[in-house]
Amino acid sequence: MNAVKRIRLFAVAGLTLAVSLCLGAGSPAKAAPNAPKLLQDDCVKCHVQPPADVASAGAGHKKITCFDCHASHRPASKNNIPECSQCHTGKKHYELKGCLGCHKNPHTPLNIILSGNITDPCLTCHSPQIEQLKQFPSKHSKLYCSTCHNVHGKIPACTQCHKPHYAEQTAGDCKKCHKAHQPKNVVYGKEVPNKECGGCHKKAVDLLTASTAKHKTLACVYCHQDKHKMIPACQTCHGTPHPAAMMAKFSKCGDCHSIAHDLNRWTAPAKAAAPVKAAPAKKK
Ligand code: HEC
Ligand code: HEC
Ligand code: HEC
Ligand code: HEC
Ligand code: HEC
Ligand code: HEC
Ligand code: HEC
Ligand code: HEC
Ligand code: HEC
Ligand code: HEC
Ligand code: HEC
Ligand code: HEC
Repeated sequence: MNAVKRIRLFAVAGLTLAVSLCLGAGSPAKAAPNAPKLLQDDCVKCHVQPPADVASAGAGHKKITCFDCHASHRPASKNNIPECSQCHTGKKHYELKGCLGCHKNPHTPLNIILSGNITDPCLTCHSPQIEQLKQFPSKHSKLYCSTCHNVHGKIPACTQCHKPHYAEQTAGDCKKCHKAHQPKNVVYGKEVPNKECGGCHKKAVDLLTASTAKHKTLACVYCHQDKHKMIPACQTCHGTPHPAAMMAKFSKCGDCHSIAHDLNRWTAPAKAAAPVKAAPAKKK
């Protein structure tokens, strides 16, 4: 803040512009004591880019002046570059090393460049994602955050790195079953159409499509609800349709009905197939 020093700086440097900064201040002999201060408006005369950057994208740094950060000028003071910690303290984020590694240009502080492999610095602001990556270990848990988010805030498409399960499947379809930070925990809603499963279960789709039983009209996810590999029991939907005595002779519904995807069809009622006997009910 030493105006005297600042004026001397220009005298020593012999910068002609310095003369024009001495806005009619007394006689040259007494220049130092009466010299006007180096003003914010003067900077642009020699430094075009920083003022332009601050004006176009200075963000929060527009609220302060050049002097707040550059308190003195060469050669009077060699170090007129501020530490970020002069003003930013009290958050985990401000304890990182190398602020300028991401905030490449302090005059446009929100213009952030992510280069290299970054995970820990992200965690100073985002925590749910790392918790999911740890709770559901997968090969994604071994990647850096910046491997996928190479520009801050950018969400990558899964298909940037992976092939879809079938030709017509789009990037938008992936999230019907997968979440990026827990990709192996496959869960889905009631709206998922059969073709999404068909990419991997062609046989099941073909059987069900060819079947003439009423199951044909049901969606895969109507029976295999919520979570991949869930298998429903027939009884969840049908209760106990036949007398216990009859069921006692058979271990499972499929003994007569075959499989859910391709139920047996009988041309005539086959009630005779189940002679009623007073046998004690065997367990399962
Ligand atoms: C008369 C021309 C002139 C004016 C006006 C001027 N500067 Fe400079 N400035 C220079 C020159 C020349 C250098 C390079 C000095 C060097 O390399 O030793 C420089 C260097 C700098 C540096 C870099 C220092 C470093 O360590 O690399 C900063 C920061 C700076 N000026 C800020 C300002 C600010 C802020 C203002 C307005 C308050 C300003 N300058 C006004 C000529 C000027
Ligand atoms: C928030 C603090 C801050 C403000 C405000 C600020 N600067 Fe800087 N400035 C810096 C930092 C930090 C550097 C060092 C950048 C680096 O090392 O890459 C720098 C570098 C410079 C440099 C030398 C490198 C270059 O980009 O040419 C000049 C000149 C400069 N600033 C001028 C200005 C001027 C003029 C203003 C006002 C319009 C200003 N600065 C406002 C923090 C600031
Ligand atoms: C002289 C004080 C000062 C210095 C030094 C300083 N800043 Fe700032 N910074 C501020 C102020 C004031 C704000 C605005 C805070 C607000 O709006 O609440 C700010 C805001 C920011 C913002 C947010 C911008 C926005 O609009 O949301 C970033 C990013 C930032 N600073 C990064 C840096 C980095 C990186 C450095 C070091 C290169 C640095 N600052 C050095 C004072 C400073
Ligand atoms: C790994 C990259 C990275 C590093 C290193 C980094 N930042 Fe940031 N910083 C960011 C990102 C990303 C944001 C969020 C920007 C947004 O909100 O769009 C941010 C936001 C900010 C903000 C504004 C929001 C807030 O929480 O205050 C300030 C101030 C800031 N950084 C200062 C710093 C300082 C000081 C350092 C060094 C101690 C630093 N940053 C180091 C990436 C980084
Ligand atoms: C200083 C705090 C800070 C740091 C550090 C930071 N972020 Fe952010 N991030 C934010 C804020 C704040 C937002 C919300 C911005 C918005 O809504 O525009 C955000 C948004 C995001 C988004 C988009 C969210 C959405 O819903 O679209 C992603 C992805 C993201 N950050 C990833 C990262 C990654 C990866 C890193 C490390 C390289 C990182 N962030 C570092 C503060 C930060
Ligand atoms: C394999 C790529 C990949 C990795 C690694 C990754 N993300 Fe993401 N991230 C995504 C995708 C894709 C989304 C969009 C949401 C989704 O599909 O689940 C996303 C969403 C986000 C969001 C927006 C909010 C949310 O949770 O949906 C933030 C914030 C985020 N990621 C931060 C991070 C952080 C921090 C890391 C490192 C700890 C990280 N991501 C690692 C791909 C990834
Ligand atoms: C930036 C690249 C990238 C993006 C984007 C990405 N992944 Fe991955 N993913 C990988 C890599 C690398 C692996 C590990 C592959 C290997 O080792 O075979 C992987 C593995 C997987 C695995 C197997 C996990 C395991 O542990 O076996 C699944 C499932 C997966 N990704 C789904 C997705 C989904 C869904 C998305 C979108 C939400 C996505 N990925 C986005 C790079 C990516
Ligand atoms: C209908 C649900 C569903 C949809 C939609 C879906 N997936 Fe999958 N995906 C799965 C299941 C289930 C597995 C796990 C198979 C296993 O257990 O081996 C899987 C596994 C993966 C794997 C691990 C490697 C492999 O092929 O087995 C990757 C990578 C993957 N999916 C990427 C994607 C991408 C990319 C999309 C979108 C284009 C997508 N998935 C859409 C259900 C789905
Ligand atoms: C990426 C390929 C893929 C997709 C997409 C996929 N699955 Fe699977 N599914 C598999 C694999 C692999 C297995 C394990 C097969 C094995 O163990 O023989 C499996 C097993 C199953 C099983 C049997 C579990 C068991 O215990 O035998 C069911 C039920 C199942 N899937 C239903 C579905 C449904 C419903 C969908 C659609 C919402 C679907 N799958 C989507 C790959 C996939
Ligand atoms: C998620 C529920 C659900 C499950 C699980 C289920 N079903 Fe069904 N089932 C239905 C519905 C709905 C119908 C059609 C009812 C109607 O339209 O009257 C049906 C119809 C039937 C019919 C009559 C078929 C026809 O074409 O007339 C038989 C037999 C049957 N189910 C047997 C089974 C057997 C055996 C299992 C186990 C392997 C099973 N179901 C599992 C829901 C289910
Ligand atoms: C009516 C309910 C129902 C519907 C609809 C249904 N399933 Fe199943 N699925 C079952 C039952 C019950 C089993 C266990 C085997 C059995 O008893 O038939 C099973 C077994 C499976 C299996 C493991 C055995 C095998 O056949 O490989 C897969 C995979 C499977 N289903 C996928 C599918 C797909 C894909 C669809 C949609 C095209 C679908 N299921 C539609 C009830 C159903
Ligand atoms: C001993 C053979 C046998 C066994 C075991 C059996 N069923 Fe049946 N089920 C039949 C016959 C026969 C019919 C009548 C077929 C018809 O009318 O077309 C039938 C009819 C049904 C119907 C259709 C009723 C209607 O109103 O259309 C359902 C649903 C059904 N069974 C479910 C089950 C379930 C669930 C199990 C296992 C708990 C089971 N069945 C075990 C032989 C059996």
